[in-house]
Amino acid sequence: MNRRAMMSPRRRLVLKAAGASAIALALGALPIALKAASATGGKVKIGVVGSGRVGGTVGGVWAKAGHEVMFSSLDPEADKRLAASIGPNARAGTPREAAAFGDVVLISVPYAALPSVGRDLGELIKGKIVIDTSNPIVARDGDMAVAAREKGAGVSSQEFLPGARIVRAFNAIGYARMGEASKNAGQVGMPMAGDDPKALEIASALVREVGYEPVVVGSLASMGKYLIPGTPLGGEHSPAEIRQIITTLK
Ligand SMILES: NC(=O)c1ccc[n+]([C@@H]2O[C@H](COP(=O)([O-])OP(=O)(O)OC[C@H]3O[C@@H](n4cnc5c(N)ncnc54)[C@H](OP(=O)(O)O)[C@@H]3O)[C@@H](O)[C@H]2O)c1
Repeated sequence: MNRRAMMSPRRRLVLKAAGASAIALALGALPIALKAASATGGKVKIGVVGSGRVGGTVGGVWAKAGHEVMFSSLDPEADKRLAASIGPNARAGTPREAAAFGDVVLISVPYAALPSVGRDLGELIKGKIVIDTSNPIVARDGDMAVAAREKGAGVSSQEFLPGARIVRAFNAIGYARMGEASKNAGQVGMPMAGDDPKALEIASALVREVGYEPVVVGSLASMGKYLIPGTPLGGEHSPAEIRQIITTLK
């Protein structure tokens, strides 16, 4: 039996309240709707830009958990079918509509699309929490991925999406188990990087809802470069293993 299952109901409540307080403390500069929803443990509006394997899976988990999710991609008909298959909390829109809809925006596109996504959605995502799953993969994204890997994906994403409060997450773990991660009940850690504590708090709560235990590994500059496949943080690790791995990277 895991430690959480062995806890008394009262201790679970105390921990839940402590988690809610930590989030409430971090909410200073957020939009009122997001502030209210998060402080009460309530639901947020999430726009998904790139409703493919990762965006479709993770967005689907959030919609089933009660958040309102708008899916978007380059294929509106596929997004409508996806939303209909998920249920009443899911809807479809264009990328601009999804970026405007979400208090939190999940951007999950091939890295080569990130510059145009940034140009098209820049004004809409400025100041918003953007969870960026996108990885520079040279075989798929070409020369721009070489440059992004040299610079570090965290810094590159921030350049492509200026003014967004970026959290890199869901980068180093395969999508195939993301829809079932809640069965792990937090045994698998989610390494995350970001520069904005408030954004990290909200993103952490959402990561936990998917079933991973969030582990903030550092800033976009210091750790963003490790949140891609093929680095020591790639693949599934327990939270303790992630904390150990990052001591070898600093
Ligand atoms: N697959 C994994 O296990 C995994 C794990 C972690 C991170 N990642 C990274 O996460 C990102 C998404 O991966 P994925 O496997 O989900 O890819 P995917 O299945 O190919 O999905 C990509 C999505 O992005 C959409 N898209 C492409 N260009 C767009 C644009 N300009 N504006 C809006 N949407 C656009 C695509 O729409 P259309 O289908 O209409 O073209 C598709 O819905 C990638 O950068 C990947 O490296 C993947």
